[in-house]
Amino acid sequence: PTASDPWRPAAHLTAARNWLNDPNGLVFHDGTYHAFYQYNPRGNSWGNMSWGHSTSTDLVHWEQQPVAMEASPEEEIFSGCIVMDTNNASGLGSAGNPPMVALYTSAYGKNGALPQGAQAQSVAFSLDKGTTWEKYQGNPVLNLAPTNNNFRDPKITWYEPGRYWVMSTVVADAQVVKLFKSTDLLHWDFLSDFSGAGAQGGLWEVPELIQMGVEGSTDKKWVMLLSINPGGIAGGSGMQYFVGDFDGTRFVAEDAAAPDAPLAESQWLDRGADYYAANSISGAPGGKPVLLGWMGNWDYAQHVPTTPWRGSMAIPRELTLVRGEHRLELRSAIATVAREALERAGSAVQVKNLTVGSGLQHLVDDFTARAQLLEVEMELTSAREAGLNLRASADGKSALRITYTKDTRTVKVDRSNAGTTNFSEKFSPYHQATLPSSSNDAKVRLQILLDSSSVEVFAGDGAIVISDTFFPDWDATGTSAFSTDGDTRFTVQTRKF
Ligand code: FRU
Repeated sequence: PTASDPWRPAAHLTAARNWLNDPNGLVFHDGTYHAFYQYNPRGNSWGNMSWGHSTSTDLVHWEQQPVAMEASPEEEIFSGCIVMDTNNASGLGSAGNPPMVALYTSAYGKNGALPQGAQAQSVAFSLDKGTTWEKYQGNPVLNLAPTNNNFRDPKITWYEPGRYWVMSTVVADAQVVKLFKSTDLLHWDFLSDFSGAGAQGGLWEVPELIQMGVEGSTDKKWVMLLSINPGGIAGGSGMQYFVGDFDGTRFVAEDAAAPDAPLAESQWLDRGADYYAANSISGAPGGKPVLLGWMGNWDYAQHVPTTPWRGSMAIPRELTLVRGEHRLELRSAIATVAREALERAGSAVQVKNLTVGSGLQHLVDDFTARAQLLEVEMELTSAREAGLNLRASADGKSALRITYTKDTRTVKVDRSNAGTTNFSEKFSPYHQATLPSSSNDAKVRLQILLDSSSVEVFAGDGAIVISDTFFPDWDATGTSAFSTDGDTRFTVQTRKF
């Protein structure tokens, strides 16, 4: 960030200029992470949807590459995925140089292969490690009958028992996930529909089916990630997930919320307002799914005050599946590769131990920063609430406020008085979530990644993540700790960027 580009993230993927949204075609190949994404090469709002491209070796520092696939009058290139076709089953490469294969949604314009407005799934391939892309002659490879205007977002996963690829797609406005299978990535056969569970109050978008082991057992389960907009738990866009079984044909969720249940009964990947369209990096090392999500919300993303760029990705995260109190649950953590990169990039660790008395705010002088990774432990010895102000102004009047309330075990991120908010009435003021009960509710640990225009708060060992964008004043760099109705003991550790 600089005074003239004050909200440019230090540790998150952005494009140098112009609009971006969903991550697409996330793949790890030959030591390089590739992120493609929904990108407008010609403007700073949504339109001319193309696939932008950036690469990284550590998931924190990204190098922008030439646009991979550009919108044409015939079709825009909507969200999709990429896999390495190692055995050249598609025949699009050769045994010696197997292709990278992209499945993407063709959103048809004038004179396209299908009527204007139709959406269907298409293939493109690269024989030079993702740098240049050629569209397959036989596109689209998958269309519905009758043709549909909301059939999109293919994401594929290898199903080893059947030795075929399984594609998840949506008919977004019908709240249906449709599964298909293929052995060559070109011919797709219908398997089944998944619907009638969880939140229904908006479009279902960007589905993904992932197999995961259950921590501490040999059980394997399947997890369906699904974005919904609007109708998310924090308002506008959000991401729910379902845990269940997949037999090669059908995904059956267990303990899923009924479609008319309160939103809190569904399972959510994030409780902030800015985490959407996340999907996993195909072939990522480490054995756990590594997700990249868009840190945006369709309620206001088109209006956020950044220029000449708009849109940023969240920090990549690693997922773990654990047995929770009532059902299987996902836990999120900053992906190991990214955390190590943050630790290398940041300043030396600084640690502060302090006790803050009732009603007081204690300025942590050394922790002045626009971007930092904080590890916070708070013991509310007699306090009712405690927390941190980040990006506080010198007069203390504005700050991003993160508060833990002991009685209710809630973690709250309040961005209502943390900088520019007047770009949209839908920029929701605060978001909160309840931690699972523990043996000692007076003690809480938070991991907080603060960047120039975002905060990601991990709490309860990753049971809760709150990801929010916000647009603080350039000069507001203070960090302070506060305690309400009693004392709190803090241990705060930081690395700044
Ligand atoms: C989700 C989404 C996708 C679509 C893409 C278009 O944010 O609406 O469903 O493919 O964005 O940019």
